[in-house]
Amino acid sequence: MLPTGEDLEMTIGLEAEALARPGTGAAASGALREPLPMPALEYTDEVARETAPLYERVKTVIPAIEWPVMAPYIKAINDLKKTRNAVILAHNYQAPEIYHCVADIKGDSLQLAVAATKTDADVIVQCGVHFMAETAKVLNPDKTVLIPDRRAGCSLAASITGADVRLLRERYPGVPVVTYVNTSADVKAESDICCTSSNAVEVVESLGSDRVIMLPDQYLAKWTASQTDVKIIAWNGACEVHERFTGEELREYREANPGIQIVAHPECPPDVLAEADFTGSTAKMTSWVEKNRPAKVLLVTECSMASNVAADNPDIDFIRPCNLCPHMKRITLPRILDSLLTMGEEVTIDPMVAGNARRAVERMVNLKS
Ligand code: 13P
Ligand code: SF4
Repeated sequence: MLPTGEDLEMTIGLEAEALARPGTGAAASGALREPLPMPALEYTDEVARETAPLYERVKTVIPAIEWPVMAPYIKAINDLKKTRNAVILAHNYQAPEIYHCVADIKGDSLQLAVAATKTDADVIVQCGVHFMAETAKVLNPDKTVLIPDRRAGCSLAASITGADVRLLRERYPGVPVVTYVNTSADVKAESDICCTSSNAVEVVESLGSDRVIMLPDQYLAKWTASQTDVKIIAWNGACEVHERFTGEELREYREANPGIQIVAHPECPPDVLAEADFTGSTAKMTSWVEKNRPAKVLLVTECSMASNVAADNPDIDFIRPCNLCPHMKRITLPRILDSLLTMGEEVTIDPMVAGNARRAVERMVNLKS
């Protein structure tokens, strides 16, 4: 069945797709690859001493009683990164013990994609979801990219397939396809250019077309359409975390907290964004809070991000409706440790698909620079 309709019309998913696709893989890196034994995970005086500066960073968001359980994992992971010549990338939605205590590079999807092109490490451990690990692999075909749990998916990435994009191209010949990075490598490979929530308007306007197809997030597409004169043809995907927020809920928070500032992610539905004082990607939300320093703020996005920003800004009061991303939460300290010990789960992508996806991602990254 072909999608029908015009600007901002919602098309429907044509087939479901599993996120992880086995591929032929890329050349093994020179990193030490054999499995390593499990280190002792005791909270000794040495572990307490070595991890004390890290606890200082998170003490306002992690109860002291939990630290003796986390600290041995944190020390073991930080030691193993050196052994494996590995770098840990962590999305802004990771839990504070990952984000503040083991990550080397942190940020939104765009920042992680750009950072992935610059690392000298042999091994990249992606503490985000599967599409982010695929993006890292697409940009680093000769490096080993690991994801601590390959079941860490995304409702947006699962909403569309490469075959769907081919059918859309038949339905709208000559209309360029802009694909949100929250998609599989297969979908990226069928696209003209990728975008993130940080650069969606810039990417859409860069194409010199009066109409673009923008996939797969209907709400990001609607928000982008509200910021540009370019007509947008949208898909009907949605983020299962952001679509749960409602405008009514935000009005209640505002009433109960006079003077509160509301900062929202563009994956939220329009009635939610209508209540927001600022809308932007996770990185832009953070920099807005740090620049404007409101006394009280509500971040309308995944719950852990407020903890991460709160740890760096203890003077700001964060009001939290706690919507967790179940996929991001599959990444835990024990799974990261296991990943570094066993060199699993390695992300592999068919080289032809990876090459085409790379073209779309690099076009976006080069636009940025
Ligand atoms: P950002 O690019 O803003 O980090 O968003 C990624 C994401 O998955 C939001 O749900
Ligand atoms: Fe996907 Fe939403 Fe989770 Fe982001 S928060 S990874 S868009 S399901």
